[in-house]
Amino acid sequence: MSVVDEVKERLDIVEVIQSYVPLKKAGRNYKGLCPFHAEKTPSFVVFPETGTWHCFGACGTGGDVFSFVMKRENMGFGEALRLLARRAGVELEPPSPQATEAERRLDVLREINQAAATYFFHRLLQSDEAARARSYLEGRGLSRETIERFQVGYALDRWDGLLRYLGDKGYALQDLHEAGLIVEREDGSGYYDRFRGRVIVPIRDQRGRTIGFGGRILGEGVPKYLNSPQTPLFDKSSVLFGLDQARAGIRTSGVAVIVEGYMDVLMAHQHGINNVVAQMGTALTEAQLRLLKRLTQRFVLALDSDTAGDQATLRGLDVAREVMDREVVPVPTARGLIRFEERLAADIHIVSLPEGRDPDEVIRESPAQWVQLVANAKPVMDYYFDALSADLDLTTAKGKADVVSRLGPLVAELSDRVQRAHYLQQLGRMVQVDEAALWQQIRQAGGHKQPPRHGQGQQPAEPSHKAGLGLDEHCLSFALHYPHLLAQADEALGACEEEPLAAGDLGRPEDRVILDTWRAWLKGGGSRQARGEFFDALDERLQDRVTVLVAAQEARPPLPEELLGSDVLDAVIRLRLQNLRREVQSLRYLLEDPEDAAAAATYGPLIIQTTARIRRLQQALNERSLSGRRQQKDAAVRVPFGEE
Ligand code: UTP
Ligand code: MN
Repeated sequence: MSVVDEVKERLDIVEVIQSYVPLKKAGRNYKGLCPFHAEKTPSFVVFPETGTWHCFGACGTGGDVFSFVMKRENMGFGEALRLLARRAGVELEPPSPQATEAERRLDVLREINQAAATYFFHRLLQSDEAARARSYLEGRGLSRETIERFQVGYALDRWDGLLRYLGDKGYALQDLHEAGLIVEREDGSGYYDRFRGRVIVPIRDQRGRTIGFGGRILGEGVPKYLNSPQTPLFDKSSVLFGLDQARAGIRTSGVAVIVEGYMDVLMAHQHGINNVVAQMGTALTEAQLRLLKRLTQRFVLALDSDTAGDQATLRGLDVAREVMDREVVPVPTARGLIRFEERLAADIHIVSLPEGRDPDEVIRESPAQWVQLVANAKPVMDYYFDALSADLDLTTAKGKADVVSRLGPLVAELSDRVQRAHYLQQLGRMVQVDEAALWQQIRQAGGHKQPPRHGQGQQPAEPSHKAGLGLDEHCLSFALHYPHLLAQADEALGACEEEPLAAGDLGRPEDRVILDTWRAWLKGGGSRQARGEFFDALDERLQDRVTVLVAAQEARPPLPEELLGSDVLDAVIRLRLQNLRREVQSLRYLLEDPEDAAAAATYGPLIIQTTARIRRLQQALNERSLSGRRQQKDAAVRVPFGEE
């Protein structure tokens, strides 16, 4: 029996929960007021027989004694386990050898990163070859003090500069590789330095430990910045550059300013503007905002002047980054920001920078102007009202229709009624249409609020061009429409040492049930032709859902089998990747919990494991996209618009 089971068995869940919430017996179970939302009639029920609890009221949450304590005490799993084990009188074993090993490896990787940062820093200051880099930085206006504070460095233009240096210090090549500092030769005959002939900006976690690097080319070239790959320490989407330096500034000013780039942060801090962090070019993620939420509720995003309004530029950027970093970068949509704001109870403002300038330039020219701009940042919705109507002629019918179709869905996203009424009024004034009629139209256009989704699939992550479906929904609709491709997708995942597409990959509870039921049906000999029987056996709500999903496939133009197959495999791999990335983000968040002393032991091994899985999937995706492009061309030539 595992320790967890033992703790559960020894504890009386009623007794534990009763120490937080007064409970009354109701039949075999116990009832009380839900501690997780405000209510007047008790809808919180504890089931002693199954050792579980559930709130049947507004919050709808539930779980076992562990999830209760974690939620109530705001603890990580490891911490809750220790608390409950003590209560149950169960002795916890010392961390397993596996956990200690993982901790040790993370420590080694940290040490390697720090040694590399020091090496690059010294090369910048001392090497003759670095003269160009020194004058480059000087030309960009960086002071010696800033360079020291951020430990900016230089990677020599050699294949084995760092490799030799750290190798001689006794570090294993395999560890350097895992730290992302060296790259394996294609023929497997050895390794070479990832960073060569570049200015190096160390990326540190919030505690100031170096976890990765960004390397800037001197002058023009592609990629402009080469970054560390995903490693057990580094996940670009859950780090904010400069946070270690900005913590105090954010606390005292009460505002966190988020910019795009390394240089912007360096320049801000150089000028004493010390509440600035960078999202490093990718879209802002919830994981990043959560890091900041510990310090403040108020965020100001400084976006390039073209980022918000011009969707085309945005997509262009996206594609460029995809090619450069070989990873899909999610787009920071207006909707995404509005959802963030609501879910995190945050207050997000946006600054629009003067045409064609980035914070680096603005600050260098006039720190006072920067302060002014930030002070005048607009609330998200006001910002989008301006940005998304700027290019329209609101005196014309077309302009009016366009502005409603752009802003309507954003207004519908607001769940606060007062706010929604406010912006509806504003939109109504813009197009001179009565608010009630406007609201009617927005709802009919499908902009009405979706029920909030729990668990996975919350972020406005992967861009989904597919009939308005999320990536997970897209995969499920594929599975329903093309069962033979589902089998192929399972194989493709298997080749990456991954489990088949499963309910856990999907965001909505009803989708999970549908997938499970569909799999069972197929396994029992059911076929696509006889899909009607499957359908009839479903409960009504699920039937509606299946109809929507299948219709989404039927609405797509028919594709040749090769394209279709490759589309499905891509989608499934991407979905798994997306889910694993989110998992790493949450794990990292737990790992960083300053209150949880055992966090590293608990979450370290999981992070290492998950990172390895991400790498495998990413690699499979890269290989597919290389060979896929060739095949797609061929296929397109052979069967331009063939039958499926
Ligand atoms: P920018 O192109 O705005 O970079 O990209 P920057 O910081 O202003 O750089 P300079 O001033 O030209 O030197 C913003 C951020 O996007 C990421 C980096 O984090 C960069 O700071 N980025 C950009 C990459 O990771 N790779 C790239 O090739 C380009
Ligand atoms: Mn710049």
